[in-house]
Amino acid sequence: MQVVFRDAKKTDLPLIQRFTVETGWKDIPENQRGRLDREKWSRHMVKVFEDFAKRKDSKIFVAEDEKHVFLGYFFVGEGFDTMTGMTHGFIYDIFVAAEYRGKGIGKTLIEKAETYCRERGYPRILLMVSAENQPAIRLYTKTGFKTEHMYMGKELG
Ligand SMILES: CC(C)(COP(=O)(O)OP(=O)(O)OC[C@H]1O[C@@H](n2cnc3c(N)ncnc32)[C@H](O)[C@@H]1OP(=O)(O)O)[C@@H](O)C(=O)NCCC(=O)NCCS
Repeated sequence: MQVVFRDAKKTDLPLIQRFTVETGWKDIPENQRGRLDREKWSRHMVKVFEDFAKRKDSKIFVAEDEKHVFLGYFFVGEGFDTMTGMTHGFIYDIFVAAEYRGKGIGKTLIEKAETYCRERGYPRILLMVSAENQPAIRLYTKTGFKTEHMYMGKELG
């Protein structure tokens, strides 16, 4: 299947926002989800999404097939490493439509994100993923990402 990329248009944003909120919710560890009001949290996520979409250093690419059928999207932007003081490319979200998963489209999205970041002169590309999101971790591992830091959490009884 041919994967064609284009910049996200304003009219794409409601759909992308819906998928981002849905997958974001699934990425919150179960013990934390139980403490959240989903409606309130969704409003918070929509705000995060809108702020991201407005940033000058961020971009949303939409992937389609040759007939303009929606396949997925990714958000890419600039990150700053407080340890090294260096900027890098950062993948904020990546999504493949459920019916097209497992066909290599995720890998194609990662390749496009890498090309975009390389063209902008970033020496590195980073992302964050929930330790429970195995499909995403497999995609990242297969495309050469390595675990560099770990956030650790503990419930206080
Ligand atoms: C994560 C996601 C983008 C992967 O997209 P995809 O198009 O299915 O990935 P690919 O087909 O390119 O697969 C890449 C590799 O990961 C592996 N993989 C992907 N999903 C897998 C799954 N559910 N189970 C096992 N392996 C999986 C594939 O086997 C493949 O490796 P291979 O080429 O050696 O076989 C997709 O599952 C998705 O959109 N999930 C919901 C959104 C999400 O969680 N995004 C990540 C936020 S951090």
